Amino acid sequence: MYSEKVMEHFSNPRNVGEIENPSGVGTVGNAKCGDIMRMYLDIDEDTKVIRECKFKTFGCGAAVATSSMATELVKGKTIYEAMEVTNRAVMAALDGLPPVKVHCSLLAEEAIHAALWDYTEKNGIEIKGLKKPKEDINDEE
Ligand code: FES
Repeated sequence: MYSEKVMEHFSNPRNVGEIENPSGVGTVGNAKCGDIMRMYLDIDEDTKVIRECKFKTFGCGAAVATSSMATELVKGKTIYEAMEVTNRAVMAALDGLPPVKVHCSLLAEEAIHAALWDYTEKNGIEIKGLKKPKEDINDEE
């Protein structure tokens, strides 16, 4: 049912953890399954390159695997290029997900966007196509 890559990222997720004083952080949740994902970004002020990206996911295996792959894909990209890391791109990099698990990859895209939004808000920057996260649960702690 799951591709080898999904199983591999699930068993051995990359970039798990937190970044102290992150440039941007975003937390998103899926109301239906109750899973939560938080993404931390460390961004170079001058070049706007994402130097580091870490995540914490309270969620299903597909959510863990997609967050892991998403962090790998955004690292080294500029904040503008990071917009290319859509849920489709993450799924393609994982050789696909079962249809019932597609929403899990959406969580990864939304978490990246929420973290980017946090950064742009703090720094007065605009990223084309980036919208305010539907639900920002950063404050609900
Ligand atoms: Fe909720 Fe996968 S079932 S993110």
